[in-house]
Amino acid sequence: MIKTILAAVDEKMPQKEIIEQAGQILKQGGLVAFPTETVYGLGANGLDAAACKKIYQAKGRPSDNPLILHIAKKQSLYDIVKEVSPNAEKLMEAFWPGPLTMVFQKKDCVPYEITGGLETVAVRFPSHAVACGVIEAAGVPIAAPSANVSGKPSPTRASHVIFDLNGKVDMILDGGSAEVGLESTIIDVSQSIPVLLRPGAVTKEMIEQVVGNIDVDPAIFSKPDETIAPKAPGMKYTHYAPKAEVILVQGEDLSAVQMKIKELVKEDLRLGKEVGILATDQTKNAYGEGIVLSLGSRENPLQIGANLFKHLRKFDFLGIEVVYAETVPETGEGMAIMNRLKKAAGYKIIEIVS
Ligand code: TXA
Ligand code: MG
Repeated sequence: MIKTILAAVDEKMPQKEIIEQAGQILKQGGLVAFPTETVYGLGANGLDAAACKKIYQAKGRPSDNPLILHIAKKQSLYDIVKEVSPNAEKLMEAFWPGPLTMVFQKKDCVPYEITGGLETVAVRFPSHAVACGVIEAAGVPIAAPSANVSGKPSPTRASHVIFDLNGKVDMILDGGSAEVGLESTIIDVSQSIPVLLRPGAVTKEMIEQVVGNIDVDPAIFSKPDETIAPKAPGMKYTHYAPKAEVILVQGEDLSAVQMKIKELVKEDLRLGKEVGILATDQTKNAYGEGIVLSLGSRENPLQIGANLFKHLRKFDFLGIEVVYAETVPETGEGMAIMNRLKKAAGYKIIEIVS
């Protein structure tokens, strides 16, 4: 156990002393968890292999799962990657700073320990004032995976980070709730046609408006084939889940979905299980039994994305054993929501054909 410094920080105008202290810790090879607009990150000096090793230890993360390097100005990209393609330049112009991570060929200064042995490196320029302040104060690119214990839902508020990592990291900055609530979009721009590796708030449709048609890693939609390595190594870990068993119930007809969930809940309650339902504002009042949490309005997928991990963690906190979840259409932000839901469910989906 180490003594973790907890500090509340203004998310728009972070206090200078606190940011400086975080920067010092990072310079000395320590670990600092901080808010970003997507989820909280666990940062270390990204060019220091020994510091990054501590990230893997604190999270219990497999060493072949590479980290994202975070920068706070566009020029820093050219110090760490070999080539920036015209497509990458356009995407940077359109979406940085923001929830988009791009994969490039790495320069020699980037240690293999952070890329899981790959020749490529993932880079992101976040838009959050605290994240950018911390990166600038450290004066180096900051390696930062999501600040959760490996396998748990990503943290969207400081209390989640404290629950997972208190006593394992040097400092945790509390900057309120993460706005997006889902991890960044990842796109590989190291090849001629960009490949979407992880969907996020910067959607496929938004990217295609800037660079035309892109490819999509099939691992986004279905259980990765264990014989083929997914292009984003982290995507192969299906245990991305709360303690409860999550089961998705999917169908064209929402009332048929509700009927099925009600039937399943009734049966589980009869067996004495603690049951949760992940619903939406349009459906939440229809269930009557079980613990119902609404993700938000079906007309506002951004709200649904922002609440997903928070609710999955809440079900754990409440001791729920089985969660039945409604699904959303897989377009726009829905692609990211469904990707995380399917992973949380270990790809268990009940299809309602009507
Ligand atoms: O929103 C985010 O991206 C957050 C915040 C903190 O910035 N970070 C985050 O990091 O989600 P992490 O480590 O939880 O997820 C990083 C993902 C993993 O799936 C990893 O396999 C993939 O990025 N990745 C990292 N480097 C890669 C590379 N060179 N090629 C392909 N995928 C890579
Ligand atoms: Mg993660």
